[in-house]
Amino acid sequence: MATFTNAPLDLRKLLQKLAVMFSFSIVCVSILYLLLGRCESDSADSSQNSPMGWYNNKTVLIAPDSLGEDSVDANSSGKDWTATRRLPHALIIGVKKGGTRALLEFLRLHPDIRALGSEPHFFDRHYARGLSWYRSMMPKALNGQIVMEKTPRYFVTPETPSRIHAMSRDIKLIVVVRDPITRAISDYTQIISKTPDIPSFESLTFKNRSAGQIDSLWSPLYIGLYARHLERWLAYFPLSQIHFVHGERLISDPAGELGRVQDFLGLQRIITDKHFYFNKTKGFPCLKKPEGSSKPHCLGKTKGRKHPKIDPEVIQKLREFYQPHNLKFYQMAGMDFGWQ
Ligand code: A3P
Repeated sequence: MATFTNAPLDLRKLLQKLAVMFSFSIVCVSILYLLLGRCESDSADSSQNSPMGWYNNKTVLIAPDSLGEDSVDANSSGKDWTATRRLPHALIIGVKKGGTRALLEFLRLHPDIRALGSEPHFFDRHYARGLSWYRSMMPKALNGQIVMEKTPRYFVTPETPSRIHAMSRDIKLIVVVRDPITRAISDYTQIISKTPDIPSFESLTFKNRSAGQIDSLWSPLYIGLYARHLERWLAYFPLSQIHFVHGERLISDPAGELGRVQDFLGLQRIITDKHFYFNKTKGFPCLKKPEGSSKPHCLGKTKGRKHPKIDPEVIQKLREFYQPHNLKFYQMAGMDFGWQ
């Protein structure tokens, strides 16, 4: 009798035990799944990770709280092993045709840098989409990795300094500058590649050619008024937060320029001359092993175009026009770029 009446009770206990064991195993499997999932995403992205691996505790730049780090991903244990999308810590803000793509591609070799490949144009065109949209555009990065993007138009857009400052007052800003005349010709070369029927560079340069009046508002010329644009940035950021990359030296000595950029970003100098070779056909430095590949790589056809020959008299007029602006820029930047 006793055996008979206890039977449902035993069955209930057994079921309870089974339920507890089942829940426990689900929890274990979930934890295992999470751990494996993280390891997998880390190794898939290994080209961007630190050579020390995910346990690398070297803090290069920690995202300030104001940058709105995803709290669910933050790891307070001190182990920086969870990749999250964070707002950028550094921006390449200009200048168009200065060599910004080359700089970004070279910087991507650094394991402590995660950079967005495309230009998001957030602060100039898409500001209304808000910071969470902007953050969602960023690549995932580990704690300690620097998140970057480049949009060369930021440098010349009046609204951007205040907007960037409102996001982060500590952000590091990088500007690649190049002789404004070569830059203007490069810009024009890009324009005619898309709209071949426009007037010549020489005629667009002047408001009135016979009076020698330069059209400084013509975009290819306006962008080169570096001092004027820099003034707006200095109203929001100290000069120490702005690093100028010498566009000509980025071609003649990429490792030297990259060394200075890595110093500015507080990074170990990992990108060195052993990463570059000079490609005679391209006429530019190229990468021996770009990010995520083992083959040598040069930038595409739209970088390093052949420029049209410009009337030397017009070049001379432009030299005279830019000289005071360049001198002012050297003073403001604290660096002589040597453009004659
Ligand atoms: P040109 O095409 O007029 O020669 P950006 O990327 O900012 O648009 O700048 C384009 C310019 O980058 C090119 O202008 C080229 O001179 C310069 N540049 C610098 N380093 C380069 C490299 N390693 N390969 C190709 N172009 C490079």
